[in-house]
Amino acid sequence: MNNLKQSKEKMTPQFFCFFLSLAIFLSLQSSATIFLGDTLYASTPNQSWSSPNSTFSISFIATGSNSYIASITYSGGVPIWTVGSTVDSGGALQLLPNGALRLTNGSGANLWDSGTANRGVSYASLEDSGELRLLNNANLTVWSSFDNPTDTILPLQNFTIGKVLQSGLYSFSFLRSGNLTLRWNETVVYWNKGLNLSLHANLTTARLVLHPIGILSVFDPSLTNREIVAYSSDYAEGSDILRFLRLDNDGNLRIYSSVRGSGTITMRWAAVSDQCQVFGYCGNLGICGYNGSNPSCECPSEDFEHVDLNDRRKGCRRKVEIEDCPGNNTTMRPLDHSMFLTYPPESLSQAFFLGMSSCRLNCLVSRSCVASTSLVDGSGLCYLKTSSFVSGYQVPVIPSTSYIKVCGSQA
Ligand SMILES: *[C@@H]1O[C@H](CO)[C@@H](O)[C@H](O)[C@H]1NC(C)=O
Ligand SMILES: *[C@@H]1O[C@H](CO)[C@@H](O)[C@H](O)[C@H]1NC(C)=O
Ligand SMILES: *[C@@H]1O[C@H](CO)[C@@H](O)[C@H](O)[C@H]1NC(C)=O
Ligand SMILES: *[C@@H]1O[C@H](CO)[C@@H](O)[C@H](O)[C@H]1NC(C)=O
Ligand SMILES: *[C@@H]1O[C@H](CO)[C@@H](O)[C@H](O)[C@H]1NC(C)=O
Ligand SMILES: *[C@@H]1O[C@H](CO)[C@@H](O)[C@H](O)[C@H]1NC(C)=O
Ligand SMILES: *[C@@H]1O[C@H](CO)[C@@H](O)[C@H](O)[C@H]1NC(C)=O
Ligand SMILES: *[C@@H]1O[C@H](CO)[C@@H](O)[C@H](O)[C@H]1NC(C)=O
Repeated sequence: MNNLKQSKEKMTPQFFCFFLSLAIFLSLQSSATIFLGDTLYASTPNQSWSSPNSTFSISFIATGSNSYIASITYSGGVPIWTVGSTVDSGGALQLLPNGALRLTNGSGANLWDSGTANRGVSYASLEDSGELRLLNNANLTVWSSFDNPTDTILPLQNFTIGKVLQSGLYSFSFLRSGNLTLRWNETVVYWNKGLNLSLHANLTTARLVLHPIGILSVFDPSLTNREIVAYSSDYAEGSDILRFLRLDNDGNLRIYSSVRGSGTITMRWAAVSDQCQVFGYCGNLGICGYNGSNPSCECPSEDFEHVDLNDRRKGCRRKVEIEDCPGNNTTMRPLDHSMFLTYPPESLSQAFFLGMSSCRLNCLVSRSCVASTSLVDGSGLCYLKTSSFVSGYQVPVIPSTSYIKVCGSQA
């Protein structure tokens, strides 16, 4: 309150009245236009900037005690684009007089900025498509949320070559080669979809588009043809449904649909049908399996414990580190029906033609090897895991046997 008063003292009373009535007008009317100086406060519930027909709005949403995120939400409250990180109750989102949209927390620290200061922005607008745009006097777009995606793609949004969706350590990209990939920590590619279109050179003009009726396709105006990547299971059904593509924090890419005003979402397609095949889903040394149809994260054996019992996805750690094994004695603990996930670029350096016992022994004697998997699928392959992060998978249908290095007993 003190801060507010200080800044107001510099204004003329007339301007202050104008500002105040404008603020009241905005909070009651929720206009589509956002003016320079307009501010949303985390501490003021129900304050929002809405699109003309209220399909989308921007507001702060409480995510915990004294923690808020500023999001564009679809009718009913489904977040589809989130600004920066969480803030405390002193947080604010302001379209600064210099044209930058800025998120600050209670301490005044700048947590996110659109990078559009002094670039001629004269107002902002939230469209009924869910696109937030910062525009100049000539009504040209200086910055758009559609060009700066976070984890979600909306219908009519063009996801072009080189663009990336990010969710924690996971990312989804549309490569110059024309492939669509899902990666863990920038490197490990656990899903890689090639397109027929990419057989044609120079795909620079291609875009991935989710059609409102629920068809995800790649379209290249220069080739005037399109290639379908996926149909949402409810495609062309229902009315007043928003469909969107989201990279979830479990590393899966999904199409969801949400009925206007319902506030709920229903999954309609997932890129990785077996969640346990998403690299790193159960954290380092975690073993992914299924409890019914739900993926669940366990530790490899009694030699391990969960890093965080309240969040088993955080992985496991050895009760005794290998360097501290009594008498320096180590052994390989067998894990039936399991494998340690090995995806490019790891597959090249970690695959060897070795039988089952050699797969176990070679890892035991190698200082850098932490685990191994003997595929037992006729390929004769053994993966010797030397990476600092390993991701396990255990289900009855896997023929492979894996071994993990633990302390042996002292003679
Ligand atoms: C905010 O909106 C909700 C539902 O629309 C209403 O129940 C609540 O009283 C409102 N809160 C304030 C402070 O206006
Ligand atoms: C505001 O954000 C800064 C930078 O992230 C952080 O150091 C500070 O603790 C935050 N302040 C509050 C009150 O949350
Ligand atoms: C997406 O790309 C098409 C074709 O270039 C263009 O007509 C359309 O305006 C673009 N949509 C947005 C929201 O930028
Ligand atoms: C992700 O990669 C960075 C850089 O290669 C590395 O420092 C970091 O430890 C990795 N994260 C995890 C969780 O392994
Ligand atoms: C593209 O994906 C296909 C599999 O769908 C794969 O065979 C090919 O190597 C990938 N290309 C690149 C450059 O990643
Ligand atoms: C890709 O090309 C192959 C071989 O030409 C064809 O069988 C397949 O149907 C094509 N796929 C798509 C999605 O167009
Ligand atoms: C499996 O799920 C059920 C129900 O959610 C739960 O009670 C049980 O503890 C779970 N079992 C394991 C091994 O996680
Ligand atoms: C090391 O541990 C293994 C398994 O616990 C045991 O069989 C073996 O005798 C131990 N060797 C030495 C030298 O202590």
